[in-house]
Order: sequence, then C-alpha cells, then structure tokens
Amino acid sequence: MPVIALKTPSASYDITIASGLLKTLSQRLKRLKAGKPYRVFIVTSPEIWKLWGKRVLASFGKEQPTVLFLPAGERHKRLRTLESLAEQMAEAGADRDALLVAFGGGVIGDLTGFLAAIYMRGVPYVQVPTTLLAQVDSSVGGKTGSNLAAGKNLIGSFHHPLAVLADTDVLATLPKAELRAGLQESIKAGVIYDAKLFSYLERNADAVLAGDVKALTHVVAASVRVKADVVSKDERENGLRMILNYGHTLGHAIEAATNYKQLLHGEAVGWGSIAATGLGWMRGMVSEKEAEKIIALILRYGPLRPFRARADKLVALTGSDKKNRSGSLSFVLPKKIGVVEIVRDVTKDEMLAAAEWMMALMKSESSLKTKTKTVKKKAR
Ligand SMILES: NC(=O)c1ccc[n+]([C@@H]2O[C@H](COP(=O)([O-])OP(=O)(O)OC[C@H]3O[C@@H](n4cnc5c(N)ncnc54)[C@H](O)[C@@H]3O)[C@@H](O)[C@H]2O)c1
Ligand SMILES: [Zn+2]
Repeated sequence: MPVIALKTPSASYDITIASGLLKTLSQRLKRLKAGKPYRVFIVTSPEIWKLWGKRVLASFGKEQPTVLFLPAGERHKRLRTLESLAEQMAEAGADRDALLVAFGGGVIGDLTGFLAAIYMRGVPYVQVPTTLLAQVDSSVGGKTGSNLAAGKNLIGSFHHPLAVLADTDVLATLPKAELRAGLQESIKAGVIYDAKLFSYLERNADAVLAGDVKALTHVVAASVRVKADVVSKDERENGLRMILNYGHTLGHAIEAATNYKQLLHGEAVGWGSIAATGLGWMRGMVSEKEAEKIIALILRYGPLRPFRARADKLVALTGSDKKNRSGSLSFVLPKKIGVVEIVRDVTKDEMLAAAEWMMALMKSESSLKTKTKTVKKKAR
C-alpha cells in the first residue's frame, strides 16, 4: 500500500493511497489521535454522501460521527458556507476535541481545511479526497481557502491535515470528464518531475482512462509523490513549488476568460500546458520531439473542450495572475520530460505567440474531428 511522507517545517504527515481504505477509516482516525479524546465531524455534500456515506459509516460502529453538509460546486466555496458550517459545529457542541474530516473533492477539502484552521483558532483535520484532482493535488500541501467575489482562493491559510487518506475505489462514481480533467494534473506531475510517471501514463492510457483501480492507484501515488516531494522542499512557494504552476499561468487566464463556466480546471490546465510547451519549443528549450510527445499525451487524455477567447485577452489576463512576482511573470517551461525551468524573462510578444499557436492548434484539432465525423457519416 503506497504511503508517502510529507515533511515540512510546519508539519509532517502521511498520505495513504489504496483501494478499500474507507472500510478502515474509523480505526485509522483513532490511530491518528493516539489515545487523545476526539469527536469526528465529517464535512461532505449530499451527492457524495448518497454514493459513499454508508461505506464510511460502516467503519464507525457505536460511536457514529456527526455529518455536516454543504451543497456541491465551486460557487459554494464562499465564506457564507464556511460560516454556516462553523455555526452547525457550534450547535453540535464541537470544541477543541473536534476532528474534522473533509470527504469530497477539492472544494470540500479547501473549505474544510480552512474551517479547521479557524474554528476555535485551529482544530485538526483529515483529508479524504474523492475526486482525482483532490487525490493527486488539492488534498496535499496544506493550502486551504475560499473564493471571494473578486477572485478564486483569495482568502485562506496554510493548515496541513493530520493525514490524507485517498481511497481509489471512490473514483468509480466520478463522472468521466472529471476523471480526465484531473488526470491533466498527473500529466503535469510527469512533465515537471517524473519521466517514469509520464511514460506510465503513455503506456497505460487505456486502463487509466477506463478507471482500472490498479492503474489509477499507481498514477495517484506517483503524482502525490511528486507533489509531496516538491512541497517538502519548498512549503511556502518561495522557489521550487512554483514548478507546480506549469500550465497554470495561461490555464488560469483561460478559466477567467471563460468565466469559470465553460471548462473544468484540468481542461484549462491542459490547454495552458500545451501553450507552455509550445513556448518552450519556440525558445529552443525543449526539442520538437519531446514537445510533440507532451502535447500528444495531453490530447490523449482529452478531449479538451475548445473555447472561444482572443489570444491577446488571455495574455492580458495573465498579468493579473497572483503568481506574478514583482511585475515579472514567471513561466514554467519544459526542458525535457521530467525537467522544467522557471523562466522570468518571457515577453508579452512571446506569450502572445504561444497563445495564438495554442488557439490555432485547438481549431485544427476540432476541425480535424469534424472532418473525420463527416467522412465517417458519408461512409455509412
Ligand atoms: N488546495 C490546493 O492546493 C488546491 C489545488 C488544486 C485545486 N484546488 C481547488 O480544488 C477545487 C476543485 O476541486 P475538484 O476538481 O475536486 O472539484 P469539486 O470539489 O467541485 O468536485 C467536482 C464534482 O465531483 C463531484 N464528486 C466528488 N467526488 C465524487 C465521487 N467520488 N463520485 C461522484 N461525484 C463526485 C462533486 O460533487 C462535484 O460535483 C477548486 O476549488 C480549486 O481551487 C486546491
Ligand atoms: Zn491545477
């Protein structure tokens, strides 16, 4: 069973990834509290609870946990939801003995982590992520938070969980589009840090995309290893942690340009990664052959839905990206599969060229598909 250790100056904990973990959830929580008194509060949404709640409760026996619900969806990642959860906790008599369990995707994980950071000035929590994105990315690393009307994740804190318990069985009910989009973060992990993971994703694409639990467990564990390693070396994003932003500079711009409605985060990251790879190739940093391999894998885990936006608008939107450091935009560009570089001298013109190139590729991709469809129709 893969157990990955994360060690930072502020916290050390294990991330366990396995099929069947939910069956022993209660025992695992008990071990984490090691003899200290505690009361379990599970934060989840009705949709996820309907699918997996029974399995969670079955592990608890007589001492049943309190379950707190929030509605699913990014639009509920707001302070008012947090306040309502905190009020529910207070009503249920939660004090500093409370142990919060985030049972859901990244929205639930980020909000529950933030709630744990501020309820009675801080209580412990455990991440039990249920989406691929949450398992490979958001549950690991201690970033918690909420959105404001002005933008995503503008409020929050660093608060690490006591542990992350990722049961890959729960991915079986995840909509396929969510699975594919989340896998873009695994491709990212391969490109930035782990050539072996990249090649595993190439060789086992059919099994991974079909939801084969063994293949998914391998991919989740390898992706988490990348994130845990990077965060262990740079908890507060002063240097190395920035490499996790590969594909995200333009990715965030694409999400903003499409009002966060048209694409899933992973799809926007996929397009952003294509643009970053194109930029690396234009700069002569990465060979054409490697760049082609990266782009082919991103598209293999698609389809990435096309979107409408002007390239210059996308570039303008990167200017407001909070990842900017003192005016100069850091861009994570590939050198070869498994190795990237943080580049700080990317000009607006270069970015525009990369964005235009990516939009052109998108158009040729979809026209290619329409053409194939028409040919197929005619053949029938
Ligand atoms: N903290 C971090 O470091 C970090 C990193 C990346 C992303 N994030 C955050 O993560 C959030 C996105 O997370 P997400 O992609 O998991 O989205 P999400 O939490 O909105 O979940 C996506 C959808 O899947 C459903 N779902 C969840 N698990 C399911 C399951 N097992 N079966 C069926 N349906 C299921 C949910 O109800 C929801 O409708 C964003 O708010 C983003 O800011 C945080
Ligand atoms: Zn991301």
